[in-house]
Amino acid sequence: MSIKKVTILEFAPTADEIWRISQHNKDGYVDYDAENGLVSILDTAHDAKLRPEILTVYAGGKATNVARVIDKIIDNESETQVELVTFLPPPQGPLCDFQISQINDVEIYPSTPAGIYIQCLQVMNLRNVKPRFEIVNEFEETCGMQVTRRCIEIIIKDTGTSLNFSPRIVWSQKSAEVVLSRLTKIMRSTDMVVIAGAPPVWDVEKGVSVIPHNFYAKIINLMKPECEMSIDVRGYYLHDCLIANKPPRFIFMNKDEFFEASESWKKLSGREFKGTLLVHDKDGCWVWDRILPKGDDLLAGADFFPSPKVTKVYSTIGAGDAMHAGFLKAWIYSGQEKDRLARSVTYSQAVAAVSVSNEKATHGINEYSVDNILKYVQH
Ligand SMILES: Nc1ncnc2c1ncn2[C@@H]1O[C@H](COP(=O)(O)OP(=O)(O)OP(=O)(O)O)[C@@H](O)[C@H]1O
Ligand SMILES: [Mg+2]
Repeated sequence: MSIKKVTILEFAPTADEIWRISQHNKDGYVDYDAENGLVSILDTAHDAKLRPEILTVYAGGKATNVARVIDKIIDNESETQVELVTFLPPPQGPLCDFQISQINDVEIYPSTPAGIYIQCLQVMNLRNVKPRFEIVNEFEETCGMQVTRRCIEIIIKDTGTSLNFSPRIVWSQKSAEVVLSRLTKIMRSTDMVVIAGAPPVWDVEKGVSVIPHNFYAKIINLMKPECEMSIDVRGYYLHDCLIANKPPRFIFMNKDEFFEASESWKKLSGREFKGTLLVHDKDGCWVWDRILPKGDDLLAGADFFPSPKVTKVYSTIGAGDAMHAGFLKAWIYSGQEKDRLARSVTYSQAVAAVSVSNEKATHGINEYSVDNILKYVQH
């Protein structure tokens, strides 16, 4: 079946900011003790305000990162439509009077200030992937719920280290159920669903059937039979998906995440599987197609694809997301060739290699990166 529509789901939207601070007598003092991994920052009682430089601000979240990379490497003439669906809170107070606006065919909805900001940032970043926003009335950001966020990465200049602040997304039981029912509609018109990252958390009420651990398995249940899922998530949230009648078509995880789920692999050892598992790290990618790993020597029995050699690694931030994006681009836009899987894995590694060898990591990937990607493919 050819894939006409791909839907990437963002449950944990964020406005990401990257700040840089330096050791400075006037603008605040910061120090890094590399041996103990400790950053010290002078407190404000000492009358020194930190004055970081704001390097960039962009729409983030793991699924948004995947969408941003796909956006740069797909052909805008393509017949396959790729959309990024983001779930956002409703407006309050005077913002209820905000009118729905359109930018480049994308509808921007009334939401909280953070919700509107995220919509604007996504529209700025995407040209070929179409953002679509779903306002969920149950997403009231009160009672401990947190449905949008700002993630801040503070780079300590000249030390090669950074601090990363990433608030969790916290839903309520009710809002998780409402999102699922909203997905029922969204799923009707799509051929491939893409999920990346851990699901939001919420206080699970007694006797309910939807919990964070089976949230992704519940989404699979909503998909029409021909629809497939590609997912990048640690094993923790996968057990129910692995034993489901219809598992995800592609599962991505890095090697640490894979070994973390050893108990699941032991239980399911060598089972037939209707999908493909791709485990990666800097050295390469281990692929199991139509079968799950065997319990004892977990990596044995996989097809191994070594990573392309990269002369200088600048940043591995988001490299896993770049890899997922590269795989999807290669898979979606190829025909039914016999080596479709192997070619898609090689392409995914080439996109990750371009990302790690760029100072701006995934943000350095643009329409001119395609030639570079092909160079790594040919290696
Ligand atoms: N030194 C390297 N040389 C070549 N490729 C690399 C290197 N480091 C990372 N990669 C590529 O980037 C991919 C993802 O890297 P990594 O293992 O950091 O993923 P991850 O931890 O899942 O990252 P993310 O934070 O994006 O989820 C690797 O599988 C590999 O293809
Ligand atoms: Mg990852």
